[in-house]
Amino acid sequence: MRTAAFTELGDPDGVETVERQEPEPGDDEAIVDVRACSVNRHDLWILEGESPLVNESTLPFVSGLDVAGVVAETGDGASVDKGDRVLLCPNQTCGECEFCREGPENMCQSFMLYHGGFAESAAVDASRLIALPDDVGFTEASTLPTAYLTAWHMLRKTDVTAGDTVFVPGATGGVGVATIQLCDVVGARTVGTSTSEEKLSRLRDVGCDHTVESGDVDEIKKEVRSSVGRVDATVNHLAGEFTQLGLEVTKRGGTQAICGRTAGATSEIFAPKFFLHQQEIVGSTMGTQPELENLVRLVADGKLEPVVGATYTLEETRQAFADMDDRDAFGKLVVEPQSA
Ligand SMILES: NC(=O)c1ccc[n+]([C@@H]2O[C@H](COP(=O)([O-])OP(=O)(O)OC[C@H]3O[C@@H](n4cnc5c(N)ncnc54)[C@H](OP(=O)(O)O)[C@@H]3O)[C@@H](O)[C@H]2O)c1
Ligand SMILES: [Zn+2]
Repeated sequence: MRTAAFTELGDPDGVETVERQEPEPGDDEAIVDVRACSVNRHDLWILEGESPLVNESTLPFVSGLDVAGVVAETGDGASVDKGDRVLLCPNQTCGECEFCREGPENMCQSFMLYHGGFAESAAVDASRLIALPDDVGFTEASTLPTAYLTAWHMLRKTDVTAGDTVFVPGATGGVGVATIQLCDVVGARTVGTSTSEEKLSRLRDVGCDHTVESGDVDEIKKEVRSSVGRVDATVNHLAGEFTQLGLEVTKRGGTQAICGRTAGATSEIFAPKFFLHQQEIVGSTMGTQPELENLVRLVADGKLEPVVGATYTLEETRQAFADMDDRDAFGKLVVEPQSA
């Protein structure tokens, strides 16, 4: 079978089409014909050699977390049937620690993610497959497992409800657009930022209430404070200097959730105002399988239309990574290894 594999770490030139043996299903596993797998910055970190998961000695490496497709084969004990339309929840958990026993599963002490979706077929844990209703397309479904699930979980962790205002720096990518749309679903208002007016115009079309065109934290602070005042919560996937910015635009007692580090792995915060304003900063990673099932239902019920910025064939996967790297993407980028 064909895969889009990382053959060299560094930049998108390291993505190549590589033939691999067809996978065989182990016990409790299913082989899925991959119709769609979306790209996440997590994949780009791996490609850039920024992830402890992969190094030169483990190449070629096939990444890709967000698999949607059709079950082609099943191993003994697998809980799905050949022909089922499915979406993979990429969470991998030990099943034994206190968080696996009592929840939430995304706090598992051995939490890991599935990799292998940029391929024609993928061998996956069948118990992690969610049935896809006929009216939910593979491409739109593949946007959900990482970006929308992470965004949804952060809205829960920040207690965002109807009428709240949420600040989303860097609102035009996977997690950003997902946060804007899911705020809309719960009835919250949003302020989103980007360095591109073209992307912000598309963001307003998918429901963002206020947009700020800037990448400069001082300028953004001024704009947010003057347009909406202090917000109830900040959903931050950038970290770096955007953490302090989040604190400065969030109200007293408000919460900021952080799930990423695109703008820097380290953030400095001004402690005196942070404790005076009694704010909270919470870390967040992915979400739970039942939360992902809930997102599939939102799409099936027509309450959420995930934004697919562009689609690529398996051979074009390198271009998908180049577009993400160049900040030339809006919403989710999706690779379609086997279009129907
Ligand atoms: N913990 C988890 O479970 C989890 C799950 C999903 C994602 N994440 C993390 O969340 C982050 C976003 O992931 P994603 O897949 O949504 O990425 P993405 O689609 O590439 O995000 C693009 C957004 O990031 C902004 N951006 C890109 N580079 C930037 C920079 N150097 N400084 C400031 N803004 C920048 C872009 O702004 P412009 O519009 O100005 O170009 C755009 O709004 C990543 O750090 C990822 O690892 C974590
Ligand atoms: Zn566990």
